[in-house]
Amino acid sequence: MSVKVAILLSGRGSNFLALHGAMERGEVPAEIALVVSNVGEAAGLAKARSLRLPTVSYPHRLETSRSAHEAKVLKALRNAKVEWICLAGYMRLLSSAFVAEFPERILNIHPSLLPAFPGLDAQAQAVEWGVRVTGCTVHLVDDKLDHGPIVAQRAVPVHDDDNALSLSARILTEEHKAYPEALKRLLTERWRAQGRRVVFA
Ligand code: GAR
Repeated sequence: MSVKVAILLSGRGSNFLALHGAMERGEVPAEIALVVSNVGEAAGLAKARSLRLPTVSYPHRLETSRSAHEAKVLKALRNAKVEWICLAGYMRLLSSAFVAEFPERILNIHPSLLPAFPGLDAQAQAVEWGVRVTGCTVHLVDDKLDHGPIVAQRAVPVHDDDNALSLSARILTEEHKAYPEALKRLLTERWRAQGRRVVFA
């Protein structure tokens, strides 16, 4: 039985495509039941439509409150019988009420080795700080920004002549491997969240 996954995205959608590809190849025992965006013109949403996946878009700017926006998203997720959620460049913080609806079933990917450089422009932050190594992190989501128990990390070097763009590209290559791999492990292995990390049996 394949697990029903929702993708939440706000932009380009390359991590969504990496997850979708891994599912299509049978590498991850899951299917994308719904793609949700808070940005109507997100390129990722158009890509989902062209793959004939179910999509919904709820522009958050049209809503009166965070909870009103999340109520719409939650309703769509329930209707699609979603079991897991993968945030893939979803640039909205989820409330604790939302997270509680899917306990330990929401994943995020972030382009740094957390807890370094949470938030926006993590790759530019890494260049700015002069770190020699950065990477990406897949983690379970809680109600704090880029914060829950860590599932997997991949490191990449930072070169002297890197800028945010060149570094982002190097990290993205690793993101596209790390995200499907982490989801596969969570769906197929025994694990538990223990403090700040996910421990596999
Ligand atoms: C990715 O680099 C992802 O790690 C980052 O947004 C980008 C989305 O790209 N997410 C965050 O910064 C979350 N705090 P994509 O739309 O091509 O997957």
